Amino acid sequence: MSTSRNVAVVVGSLRKESFNRKMANALIAMAPQPLAMSIVEIRDLPLFNQDLEADPTPEVAAFKESIEASDAVLFITPEYNRSMPGVLKNAIDIGSRPHGKNSWGGKPGAVVSVSPGKLSAFGANNALRQSLMAIDVPTMPQPEAYVGNAAKLFDDKGMLVDESTREFMQKFLAAFAKWIERFASR
Ligand code: FNR
Repeated sequence: MSTSRNVAVVVGSLRKESFNRKMANALIAMAPQPLAMSIVEIRDLPLFNQDLEADPTPEVAAFKESIEASDAVLFITPEYNRSMPGVLKNAIDIGSRPHGKNSWGGKPGAVVSVSPGKLSAFGANNALRQSLMAIDVPTMPQPEAYVGNAAKLFDDKGMLVDESTREFMQKFLAAFAKWIERFASR
């Protein structure tokens, strides 16, 4: 019997009809054993400032606890102006502090970027990878997941219905499960 691996899924869009959230829900539904994936919400986090380090809000404390309780982290992000959205960077910064109490540290990670455009949020994906180095998240190098033309991939119920994307994401998740095992200490 395999031990489940809890994966915190962090979505870089807060909008209701977000393609990235639809992708997150699709990946959660198709996750292979032993991955147990769930979204850790970032929408109620305050804007980070260093005063929060000494006096964290309950939302900050709960967020850090959720990340610390996970075995791995999966980031699913849109691109805003060739980088990751501010809400996602804010969550990364909050999780990384105070100094010496980085909630992300050492957790294996992976990145998926989703855009309605053709460039597939390449800029956000790579900007995010740069920050993941700083917070000590060893990030799966391959396969990379750049998902474009997002408006054509989901049906009106938000289901991922594009078969080639489903197949690719299935392979991506299988590779991520192997990547996580490389870092498992239990
Ligand atoms: C965008 N969008 C966008 N798309 C892209 O491919 N490259 C970019 O640089 C940008 N820049 C950008 C800036 C801002 C402020 C907004 C609001 C949007 C479009 C973006 O990909 C689109 O709105 C997606 O639908 C956002 O992802 P969700 O919310 O659907 O997950």
